[in-house]
Amino acid sequence: MGERILVLDAGTTSTRAMLFGADGALHHMAQRELTQHYPKPGWVEHDADEIWRRTLACAQDVVAKAGGPGAVAAIGIANQRETVVAWDRNSGEPLARAIVWQDRRTAPLCAELKAAGHEDALHRRTGLVLDPYFSATKMRWLLDNEAAVRAAAERRALALGTVESWLVFKLSGGAFVSDASNASRTLLLPLEGAQFDPGLCALFGVPPAALAEVVDTHGMLARTSGDILGASIPICGLAGDQQAATVGQGCLAPGETKATYGTGAFVLTNQGDAVPRSTHRLLGTVLTQRDGKRRFALEGAVFVAGSLVQWLRDSLGLIGSAAETEALARSIPDSGEVTIVPALSGLGAPHWRAEARGVIAGLSFSSGRAQIARAALEAMAHQTHDLADAFAADGAPWQSLRIDGGMSANDWMAQDLADMLDIEVERPDFVETTAFGAAMLAAVGARLHPSLEDAVGAMRGKVRRFEPSLAPERRAERLVRWRKALAAV
Ligand code: G3P
Repeated sequence: MGERILVLDAGTTSTRAMLFGADGALHHMAQRELTQHYPKPGWVEHDADEIWRRTLACAQDVVAKAGGPGAVAAIGIANQRETVVAWDRNSGEPLARAIVWQDRRTAPLCAELKAAGHEDALHRRTGLVLDPYFSATKMRWLLDNEAAVRAAAERRALALGTVESWLVFKLSGGAFVSDASNASRTLLLPLEGAQFDPGLCALFGVPPAALAEVVDTHGMLARTSGDILGASIPICGLAGDQQAATVGQGCLAPGETKATYGTGAFVLTNQGDAVPRSTHRLLGTVLTQRDGKRRFALEGAVFVAGSLVQWLRDSLGLIGSAAETEALARSIPDSGEVTIVPALSGLGAPHWRAEARGVIAGLSFSSGRAQIARAALEAMAHQTHDLADAFAADGAPWQSLRIDGGMSANDWMAQDLADMLDIEVERPDFVETTAFGAAMLAAVGARLHPSLEDAVGAMRGKVRRFEPSLAPERRAERLVRWRKALAAV
């Protein structure tokens, strides 16, 4: 048996496989894009079969590059969270398109449940708010609107799960599990409950029999069936991608905080074993679970980050590549009062306004590509600043911020974050922290390292630091403009 860890990182826009050494070195990598389906405004779907086939193809590529399955000691999986897959347990086939976390179709059901007064108790028990983002209302929608899903429920053959459940089911040939970090994004798992809760299932009209068993994030969790990768390999790490990135950034002590700037932006602060209780519209979530013992995180989820830059490129044709935004931002001294509120799919934390839509404010004849590109990058720091205020008000102020994700490679944005938050921002040289975290979880689960702290010590590499240097008046002026634009959405 080898000592390497195969990570499957099934994200929103692409799925990847990577092979890590127990020392953190990356040996091989393969990547495939995922098709995004937008059947109606506000709807976002994936083909679950495509997620599986492309993830498997990446895994097979990497195992072949490594010289066969003998090199692999364990598998770790990190995945886009909240996205719901419905499949038939007997045939193993999907019953409908997967509903992606960004999908807003269940906003009316959320509003109904809110009007009926359920939100406070749900927030207290699950850490989440009543927003279409989370899985439970998506599951209910599938039962109400997809005949094949309903029929499978009647035959007691229905499986409803998040992406890690789907991948483990396919890899293992039938194990039906969900790790506690992913399960804590459904609205069906109490932060202090070991399994999905029948009362919460009844509230959302989701049959408990269709749900997986909730398991640890690291340990011996399942095994691949021998025919999939050429040998039976233990699956020893499972986590939502944002929780995995928190581990990958080494945020293991209470108070340590990371922000990932990918499609959206997700900030998690470690809360140790204290169950998070936000009074400022942040989320409480399970960070890790070992032998049933949980560590928690306080989370701020922002829906639009890198997808704003993608929109400038693909829908407006304003830039040729995301990387151009850095030179454009540096080419001018300020955004000339242009301010963007990137509420293209509503506003997430701490505002939670599903109906909000984006705004570009402060346009004048002197506004051009550079001003708009700069305003798009500035919006990242503005959104993060709103989260910083909410975390501080919840008694969890950030001492420094560890950033990662595709957008964090932009040095101008990293410096702007340090300037606007007025704290040190730290960026690892190796920014694939999600995959790194899944590798650490699997390494500990497979006993290649005794604890996550040891895994971080052995595997985490060098970092670069950005120190704040903006005059307080300029920071204040930016925030006034941001708040004014926000009030207009
Ligand atoms: O909660 C959604 C999050 O897990 C998506 O992450 O990296 O696929 O955009 P990403």
